[in-house]
Amino acid sequence: KKVGIIFGGKSAEHEVSLQSAKNIVDAIDKDKYDVVLIGIDKQGKWHINDQSSYLLNEENPKLIQLNKSNDPVAVVPGETNNQIIHATSAGALDQLDVVFPIVHGTLGEDGSLQGMMRIANLPFVGSSVVGSAVCMDKDIAKRLLQEAGINVANGVAFSRAKRNKIDFEQIKEQIGVPMFIKPANQGSSVGVSKVSDKEAFEKAVDEAFQYDNKVVIEENIVGREIECAVLGNEYPQASLPGEILPQTEFYSYESKYIDESGAKLEIPAKLSDELVAKIQTSAVKVFETLECEGLARVDFFLTEDGEIYVNEVNTLPGFTRISMYPKLWEISGISYPELINELIELAID
Ligand code: DAL
Ligand code: MG
Repeated sequence: KKVGIIFGGKSAEHEVSLQSAKNIVDAIDKDKYDVVLIGIDKQGKWHINDQSSYLLNEENPKLIQLNKSNDPVAVVPGETNNQIIHATSAGALDQLDVVFPIVHGTLGEDGSLQGMMRIANLPFVGSSVVGSAVCMDKDIAKRLLQEAGINVANGVAFSRAKRNKIDFEQIKEQIGVPMFIKPANQGSSVGVSKVSDKEAFEKAVDEAFQYDNKVVIEENIVGREIECAVLGNEYPQASLPGEILPQTEFYSYESKYIDESGAKLEIPAKLSDELVAKIQTSAVKVFETLECEGLARVDFFLTEDGEIYVNEVNTLPGFTRISMYPKLWEISGISYPELINELIELAID
């Protein structure tokens, strides 16, 4: 079978995606699958196979830079004849049996790419349009989780048009300080700030609006950061949970990918059997509530009194070398190659 791996993309998480794709390509069973690489550069242009592999050339760079620019990705010298196709000409997709999209964030993880694949009638790994779109929007995801009786942080959301109605004192009254300011649709903590005073607040709101037309402002939940991987379609299974031990104010982009001393991972998390079961049950409930398919990583806070709160859900979680999703399955008994195989099987099943 021909598996198209779509990676890169225009989002801030472009470089995270390159690393995720590299690991997936390394782990995929090449006897079973023919891999077709489809790289999307930072400008949104599509490159197939040899013309895309330069995007993966760099050997696991220590630093994964945030894509702030829309600079063109440097093309390898001498390669003047790049075959570039546009998303709208489905040429590259015709030949494929299944797609493994591993584009994080905007346009890749938010249902857009998934909609395109549905139009092209191609099976693909992961959630479809609705599940992807809902999980990408922190405001909408929270409303659905609340309706299902799942704990989430208290907070408010504002569209850009309401920017001048965002009042620090009023919000502080409601949710206290410190508080988190986040773009509603982002991954990897891009554009996220933790603030306690008005000056920092205004700056943080402006920053978040650089990444999205909607921002969410949330209370600070004091607790351990626990993540749980979910795998499956109708009968999703949860992995053993893992823990993030941030060494900085919070688990920021910087502490994830740039300064790795910024966070430690504990896999599996040190938890009682009872709490493991509670987190796993909740992770599956979240997966079903938000109509996820194939895979998702559910991120929680665990408070001192044993309450769990959902922080967010990632429908195309990272597969970089520091990423939790594959590591959690590894300690739960599914090796990296088996996991990739299972995800592809779930897509075509
Ligand atoms: N958004 C990043 C890739 C993650 O959740 O792992
Ligand atoms: Mg995320």
